[in-house]
Amino acid sequence: MQNLLVDQKRTIYIEEKRSELADLAKEVTQSRYLPKYHIYPESGLMNDPNGLAYFNGQYHVFFQWYPFAPLHGLKHWGHTTSKNLVDWTKQEVALSPVEEYEKNGCYSGNAIEFQDELYLFYTANYKTEAGKIPKQAVAIMDKKGQIKKQAEPVIEGLMEGLSGELRDPYVFERNGQFYMLLGGSEFAGEPTSSFGDRGVLLLYKSDNLLDWSYQGLIDLPFDTGYMLECPSLIQIDGKDVLLLSPMGIASESERFNNRFATIYAVGELDVTNRCFRTEYWDQMDAGFDFYAPQAFLGKNQQPLLYAWFGCGEPEYPVQENWQHGLTFPQQLTIEQGKFKRYPAAEILAVFSKPQRVNGDCIETNSRNYWLEVEAGFNFKVGSADDYWEFVYDAKTKRANLSREHLAKSIDESYGTQRSVFIQNLDKVDVFVDNSFVEVYLNQGEQVFSFRVFQEGSDTICSAYETLSGYLHNT
Ligand code: FRU
Repeated sequence: MQNLLVDQKRTIYIEEKRSELADLAKEVTQSRYLPKYHIYPESGLMNDPNGLAYFNGQYHVFFQWYPFAPLHGLKHWGHTTSKNLVDWTKQEVALSPVEEYEKNGCYSGNAIEFQDELYLFYTANYKTEAGKIPKQAVAIMDKKGQIKKQAEPVIEGLMEGLSGELRDPYVFERNGQFYMLLGGSEFAGEPTSSFGDRGVLLLYKSDNLLDWSYQGLIDLPFDTGYMLECPSLIQIDGKDVLLLSPMGIASESERFNNRFATIYAVGELDVTNRCFRTEYWDQMDAGFDFYAPQAFLGKNQQPLLYAWFGCGEPEYPVQENWQHGLTFPQQLTIEQGKFKRYPAAEILAVFSKPQRVNGDCIETNSRNYWLEVEAGFNFKVGSADDYWEFVYDAKTKRANLSREHLAKSIDESYGTQRSVFIQNLDKVDVFVDNSFVEVYLNQGEQVFSFRVFQEGSDTICSAYETLSGYLHNT
């Protein structure tokens, strides 16, 4: 059994595997839990969004993918494209770990356009018996969609005082210069395990995207756990927003209750003095299934984000040959000193048939809908013996989400409730896309992202006051 699992995790996609994948994909289409508007794997396991870009007139979403089983196996980069963030065309596998230097997988990274080509940065995962040797690699995609890997990684080798777990390049341009952020882990004393004791953020600099020089660590004024993964950075209205996925942040009563955390910090990245002047920061998502967000500029330079709709290795009540997916594309804004994210306009446009609703119970007649709740912030979604629940307590200013009463319970080792402080709640948007649920408070001031495995259309019943708002179907 053990060997079977090992083999199951090691398959590399090559042309000869095409029909095997097509068979797997056919089987997946039978699942009752597939979303309509979230990106999900046609087979196998999807995790982080990678290489997000609006390039050559279309959106490119690459993603971490093990195509052959719903496991964290040998990672490839999958690829899909769209003109409108709604209708996606599956592309050939973008990166298969066929080279010696990436023998343990093509890990996460981002993309940047340069001289009419799209540079895809990624971590070439390379294990040895003595631990990992960090390697960061580049593949270049032309306008025809041809992707060519560089012959060798562009950054390679262990760093003094840091563990071999150095990964997830995020490259950006500032004042005519290229920079790269890289996540890592620093040893406090003598190494005792493959990870160090403190999550760190490394800065590199380059003129041509191929030759990189190390600048040092970036000083961060908050807890970074024992390892930082998936750094990302975007400018919104002149402010820098830094996104980080730290492993090992201690849970507080309300925050950081998932296996791994995700945080945002708003302020200014000073690349000369290597520090992030933080004005405010917080956990990014209040739900159960959110990790590794990556920000990028979409059409008309719009700040957007996708995240992995998953976290760690949750145990789902349903075993099928596909796992996880990505969040909705979200537009990022800073409004009155608050960082907000909300589904992109293209996604909202899909839910084009609004209907005024007002009552104790609302029949959605669907598993793909958007409910705008304007009053009655205490409701159950599903059916009498299979529901999730949202409750806002106006006294304590806490919004509470419970998955306790779902018929198919989901990894209760991380609890069944999540709650978050929100000063004045005046709107709740519920997006149900079959098993993918996103709940936005005050248009994205706080967000709960979480999976449910319910069947049949949802009825939404208010617990105390009448529920009113708009139900949008597609
Ligand atoms: C985050 C992560 C990254 C890594 C990738 C591997 O979910 O662990 O750090 O590059 O996933 O799939």
